[in-house]
Amino acid sequence: MKLKILVGTTTQTAESVAQSIELDCADLVEQIEVQLMDGLDASVFDEPALFLICTATYGSGDVPDNAQALLASLCSAPTYLGHVRYGVMALGDQGSYPMTFAMGGRQFDEKLTDLGAQRLGEVWTHDASSGVVAEDAGIAWCRDWLTSHLPALRAAAPQA
Ligand SMILES: Cc1cc2nc3c(=O)[nH]c(=O)nc-3n(C[C@H](O)[C@H](O)[C@H](O)COP(=O)(O)O)c2cc1C
Repeated sequence: MKLKILVGTTTQTAESVAQSIELDCADLVEQIEVQLMDGLDASVFDEPALFLICTATYGSGDVPDNAQALLASLCSAPTYLGHVRYGVMALGDQGSYPMTFAMGGRQFDEKLTDLGAQRLGEVWTHDASSGVVAEDAGIAWCRDWLTSHLPALRAAAPQA
């Protein structure tokens, strides 16, 4: 099984979290690919993979610039994504933006759910004002997430 991490970022914290996961979680899953969301559209979900949305929040609870086109594509394309299983890592800053904390990731979650995709586990959030190191906390969450959900996904996957 392939874990595909789609990254929405401006100042590269989310990318660093994804790359840390790529290095640390290689023993848990056959393949991990980190891909920036730049230039992507809804067809990225055509690939057979377990998806992880890892994105920051900007503006007033918006997704970063590099994630705008993908979110817009999900909003405009009537694509049924019933085959998609995904998790969400939502980065934000609760101290500075309490009203819109981590809403970038939550926007992706809402849209993917609307299109029939199934989220595995709860949305993970990172608060930049907390002092918690995003990479360390992200790795710990992802290892737990993969360990919890991969067995059922593998059992359900068609055998080659
Ligand atoms: C101009 C600006 C706007 C932001 N807006 C929000 C926001 O609305 N909600 C939130 O939770 N975090 C907000 N943040 C915090 C970022 O999402 C957070 O620092 C994140 O870790 C940055 O990730 P990145 O380095 O991958 O871009 C904002 C940060 C900046 C600089």
